[in-house]
Amino acid sequence: MSSVEIRNLRKSFGTLEVLRGIDLTVDAGQVVCVIGPSGSGKSTLLRCVNLLEQPTSGQVFVDGVELTDPDVDIDAARRRLGMVFQQFNLFPHLTVLRNVTIAQQRVLGRGRAEAERIAREDLERVGLADKAGAYPGQLSGGQQQRVAIARALAMNPSLMLFDEPTSALDPELVGDVLTVMRKLAEDGMTMLVVTHEMAFAREVADRVVFMDQGVIVEEGPPGQVIGSPRQERTQTFLRRVLNPTHVD
Ligand SMILES: Nc1ncnc2c1ncn2[C@@H]1O[C@H](COP(=O)(O)OP(=O)(O)OP(=O)(O)O)[C@@H](O)[C@H]1O
Ligand SMILES: [Mg+2]
Repeated sequence: MSSVEIRNLRKSFGTLEVLRGIDLTVDAGQVVCVIGPSGSGKSTLLRCVNLLEQPTSGQVFVDGVELTDPDVDIDAARRRLGMVFQQFNLFPHLTVLRNVTIAQQRVLGRGRAEAERIAREDLERVGLADKAGAYPGQLSGGQQQRVAIARALAMNPSLMLFDEPTSALDPELVGDVLTVMRKLAEDGMTMLVVTHEMAFAREVADRVVFMDQGVIVEEGPPGQVIGSPRQERTQTFLRRVLNPTHVD
């Protein structure tokens, strides 16, 4: 069973063709990490999957439902997806607990008691049970990102999309967020993750996809794509990422 299936996805902005025919599936319970240089279309790909961007052509299926079908109930379909961005986008004037309950109540129609029970469970899952009453401004960036993950989990998504969730964080805060993501993967969450964290991709991903200039150049098990890439473009990219101070 595949959780997400992307077929021949294309996206142009004016004359700029950013995605040039992407085919990608993530099976239920699998973790796929997407790597690639800046501007290669990674964020656009995730944004097309949850229809924050309208694809120019191609199809996206989530749990067998075609999100790109013009007749689909887009709000219902989007609820299957949890999205975690580089920026956490928490409501600063609401407590952590309220940040995690608000969409449950407004979008899913859950009652307050149930929403709070679920929020506390998900805050526990990300290691922040003791921060329910705090405001986002009182938390570190890594803690705020873990609240954002709890907020997404509380909506019971069948797939989680992550777009560079740790790249805005101070280095010492990255590990806690990756630990939470590793645990989600172990719990069987289906995840599509854009990341620059090669060690994480190597350890957690079932498959790694290398994108460049709007196409998938290479994909396979992490040991192959990161460990011994076949394509020259992948090799060049990885040399730069793994030795950032090295000058060719
Ligand atoms: N809304 C938009 N309008 C016009 N061009 C856009 C838009 N969004 C993205 N682009 C362009 O599409 C290309 C791919 O952008 P995208 O953000 O998907 O890259 P990325 O792989 O996520 O890069 P990064 O690693 O820097 O986040 C870039 O050239 C970008 O300028
Ligand atoms: Mg991006």
